[in-house]
Amino acid sequence: MNASDIKITRAQQLKQKPQDESHLGFGKIFTDHMFIMEYEQGKGWMNPRIEPYHRLSLDPASTVFHYAQEIFEGLKAYRTADNHIQMFRAKDNCRRLNRSAERMCMPEIDVDFNYEAMKTLVEVEKDWVPHSEGTSLYLRPTMIANDEGLGVHAAKNYIYYIIAAPSGAYYPAGLAPINIMIEDRYVRAVRGGMGFAKTGGNYACSIKAGEEALKKGFSQVLWLDGETMKYVQEVGAMNMMFIIDDTIVTAPLEGSILPGITRDSILTLARDKGFKVEERRLSVEELMAAGESGRLKEAFGTGTAAVVSPVGMLEYQGKEIVVNNGEIGKVTMDFYNTLTGIQWGKKEDPHNWITKVC
Ligand code: PLP
Ligand code: COI
Repeated sequence: MNASDIKITRAQQLKQKPQDESHLGFGKIFTDHMFIMEYEQGKGWMNPRIEPYHRLSLDPASTVFHYAQEIFEGLKAYRTADNHIQMFRAKDNCRRLNRSAERMCMPEIDVDFNYEAMKTLVEVEKDWVPHSEGTSLYLRPTMIANDEGLGVHAAKNYIYYIIAAPSGAYYPAGLAPINIMIEDRYVRAVRGGMGFAKTGGNYACSIKAGEEALKKGFSQVLWLDGETMKYVQEVGAMNMMFIIDDTIVTAPLEGSILPGITRDSILTLARDKGFKVEERRLSVEELMAAGESGRLKEAFGTGTAAVVSPVGMLEYQGKEIVVNNGEIGKVTMDFYNTLTGIQWGKKEDPHNWITKVC
């Protein structure tokens, strides 16, 4: 399959686009079209097409509803000042989707074809890419298992679709620092589990802790490792970076956290800027001690939706540490500006992360 196999059926009636781009939020409204194709064991992926956005009709016994064989991705298309549309590291999302697929016994999709599918959808929806600073068109590629029956085994039938949502900041407060609770009861991932895969079950498992933290006034929880509950891992929708003295410390990729594409980009930019970077296990004791002694200078999360999100306060077992007086730090701000500068085409792209759509 290649891009020319993608059949495009345009919607007869287009939806009203949001007039006020300052309140887009995240993933609340969807564009006029979607990409969709099906897979059948023995036949492979077939019938790739872009159609008017529509509901799916699935059998109540469909595998995805019962055994959560599902994976997804998240990436963005950006409008530049000279009115071009571009995507950021989109093929890395295609590669990660395949790594998630392998873990969940789902079929892979050719990276170049998947990239063409995303690009074609963005081209069709180019008028939906918002214009205001800090906004983008968020793409949500999704694969679901769709056998009709209750046996627990890898399905033989799948659906892959891509939907798109014009979006603003993920956190309602934008770049204002968030408060995070370090979770000491529930765990998200265990050794040999599926923590590294972008699969719905990881998020379903995180909701209870997230809701309880929200009630206590925290935006998110920071997970500890599932074996010893000693080492900090990641937050619900972001990887975490801590600046201790002059070193950027982040959890290593050992199978239980998502290998974030923003994480990798920030580590690359940090090395470019001459920072010391350590991908290593960081114990919650060390982190709290660094906070208390003033050695923890800044903390921030990284993610496609969250971009670079400063953390103003961390809480663990009733003890709170305020980071950088609860304000966004200089280094965090600089990373935000460098990364978004590349994404919106305002800054040079030394690592060839950008691909032009139109
Ligand atoms: N960790 C989790 C659990 C996530 O859901 C995300 C968001 O995609 C990230 C980390 C950040 O990954 P990326 O930078 O690729 O968006
Ligand atoms: C993303 O940043 O793309 C994500 O998938 C985060 C999402 C869980 C809100």
